[in-house]
Amino acid sequence: MNKPLRIAIFASGSGSNFQAIADAVQGGKLDASIELLVCDRPQAPVVQRAQEAGVAVHTFRPKEYPSREAYEQEILELLRGKQVDLVVLAGYMRILTDVLVGAYWGRMINIHPSLLPSFPGLHAVRQALVHGVKVTGITVHVVDGGLDSGPILAQRALDIVPGDTEQSLSERIHPMEHELLPHVISQIASGQIDLEPYINLKPKDGIHS
Ligand code: GAR
Repeated sequence: MNKPLRIAIFASGSGSNFQAIADAVQGGKLDASIELLVCDRPQAPVVQRAQEAGVAVHTFRPKEYPSREAYEQEILELLRGKQVDLVVLAGYMRILTDVLVGAYWGRMINIHPSLLPSFPGLHAVRQALVHGVKVTGITVHVVDGGLDSGPILAQRALDIVPGDTEQSLSERIHPMEHELLPHVISQIASGQIDLEPYINLKPKDGIHS
């Protein structure tokens, strides 16, 4: 890992988590450099956030490629060219193939708005409400190629209160994410979180579920 840690952020939408990381870097709270934003929706608001933060952007339209592997190979070459140490999935709404997961095995993390392994996939906040759970939360985990699965690095919990809606719950979850994700990246940068064991654990060792 370089010092400062060289990160790439993948996002598909609003990019409030991208913004939280960029603000932490800008404010000197996170010793990392954002080398690239990767976005599969060229019109997504996160693209403008990156441009305003002076971060290089790679957008693509998945449908314009013959396969997922083809656009991932292009991304991988960009990541290697920029010597990216850590890939951060911050609202990236696509399943990754082995092209990227394999190349960044143990060096790719994801944030998800539930207490994994509960409620992976889309609409996690809604899923929690539908199931009537009384406590939900957020998770940052190492990516193993499954749907929001892999070894958990950090979680925060919050109560669901009577009358909560998807919107009210999301409004409490987002600020928690904005605190936790830069914090975990900072712990990786400082060595407080050691990714080496995950890097060394290959799927055949049983890390895959
Ligand atoms: C975040 O809540 C993140 O946890 C979620 O997407 C949102 C992106 O918000 N990720 C997933 O659901 C991954 N399965 P943002 O674009 O404002 O950062």
